[in-house]
Amino acid sequence: MAELSLSVTERQAAFIEASESEVLFGGAAGGGKSFGQLVDALLFALRYPGSKQLILRRTYAELEKSLIRVSLGLYPRSVYTYNASAHVGRFSNGSLIDFGYSAVESDVFQYQSAEYDVIRFDELTHFTEFQYLYMLSRIRGANGFPKQVKSSTNPGGIGHAWVKERFIDPAPPGEVIEGESGTRRYLPSRIDDNPFLAEGDPGYKRRLLALPESERRALLDGDWNLFSGRYFSEFSYETHTVPPEIIPPTWRKYRAIDYGLDRLACLWIALDEEGGVHVYREHCVSNRIISDACREILALTPPSERIYATLAPPDLWARSQESGRSRALLFAEHGLTLTRSANDRVTGWLAVKELLKAAEGHPPRLRISRSCLELIRCLPMLESDRCDPSDVSSEPHALTHAPDALRYFAIYFSRPEPIEKSVVRRPWTDDMHEDFANASAEERRLLIARYGLPE
Ligand SMILES: Nc1ncnc2c1ncn2[C@@H]1O[C@H](COP(=O)(O)OP(=O)(O)OP(=O)(O)O)[C@@H](O)[C@H]1O
Ligand SMILES: [Mg+2]
Repeated sequence: MAELSLSVTERQAAFIEASESEVLFGGAAGGGKSFGQLVDALLFALRYPGSKQLILRRTYAELEKSLIRVSLGLYPRSVYTYNASAHVGRFSNGSLIDFGYSAVESDVFQYQSAEYDVIRFDELTHFTEFQYLYMLSRIRGANGFPKQVKSSTNPGGIGHAWVKERFIDPAPPGEVIEGESGTRRYLPSRIDDNPFLAEGDPGYKRRLLALPESERRALLDGDWNLFSGRYFSEFSYETHTVPPEIIPPTWRKYRAIDYGLDRLACLWIALDEEGGVHVYREHCVSNRIISDACREILALTPPSERIYATLAPPDLWARSQESGRSRALLFAEHGLTLTRSANDRVTGWLAVKELLKAAEGHPPRLRISRSCLELIRCLPMLESDRCDPSDVSSEPHALTHAPDALRYFAIYFSRPEPIEKSVVRRPWTDDMHEDFANASAEERRLLIARYGLPE
């Protein structure tokens, strides 16, 4: 075999030598993390004939542009061939490297029956915790080779919070963390650690210096504390949650639902006389057909509790192609008349933010009962959307249901005029006429209460 001539930085060498079950090479952009991964993968493949590795990026396009391209330049052709249609690199000693992606959460299931010695995530914070933990279970084999997950990343991105919690918060950089599933270690990288970049592109650091403060500190210094992808960074368990309270009968009460077969989330929300908004009950369950969902929601609402309206997203009014009937109609048939809220996501999320805001000397308007476990767990974990930071990322999908229900309430509640006064405001559209024609008697009453008589 032709001699391999490679030099690595000190930090890359530490990453290559790290033997913990989970290793994270993270921090500043341009520190040589991805290159370090590729050198490490190459050395592992050569050292352990017949070994199997997987290198993952979030999307295939990213993988191709970065890791695959660089590996083709780096790996000696005398021992390595790459099959572009199968995305597999094979070594003459029988080792292989799969290049993969997991763009949406369910993509991980393509690896259901796979077995790897080492899995490498590049840009780990682009992945969700579910994707990471699922892939962890694909590391196995009776060949006696080391078994590891080695990741590289910058701070920021949808997975910022869980990556920070798993690798950065438990111990100072470089120290070994004893996790339930094995040892972990975070090895920081800084741009100045990479002399190859300083020589090859001296303007790179200057361009990073020109970024806004938080991005600059995240990308240049690899600072995990400044940049946070959390959408509701203002949420605090201390200020926004309260022990379960007794809700006076005089407070106006709403229910807000997000319905899908995968998950039903229903929140019960009461308004006090000072404008406070109290989420006092939740029901979040999976696999409920509409009749069961209605039965359970009604059963959880004591008969003495008068619900002013049950708010739901407009897509429930879309009519099924087969039956020509909408899900809202099915809800009504099972005793739950829904009121249409709005689905303008950004406006809705901003309305939730308004409720969370604590003005000086005043508590925030939103108070969530500590019995509402799912809402309390999910709200602070939501991340900003990577393409549109004013929106919430729709992944991990499992986190979105209870917050979505709250959003349907918040956007309805934040309308400039109280709904009950907004009778005969707008001319009826064709859609509204169509809905009215298909509505049950009770739904029609609500439509009239809200929009006035159809003209
Ligand atoms: N050991 C090395 N030998 C030669 N070139 C290197 C070495 N390490 C890194 N480089 C070069 O430095 C540049 C930055 O490295 P790399 O892409 O690995 O950094 P990174 O930390 O992954 O950056 P980003 O945060 O942007 O993903 C690349 O052009 C890479 O080829
Ligand atoms: Mg990289």
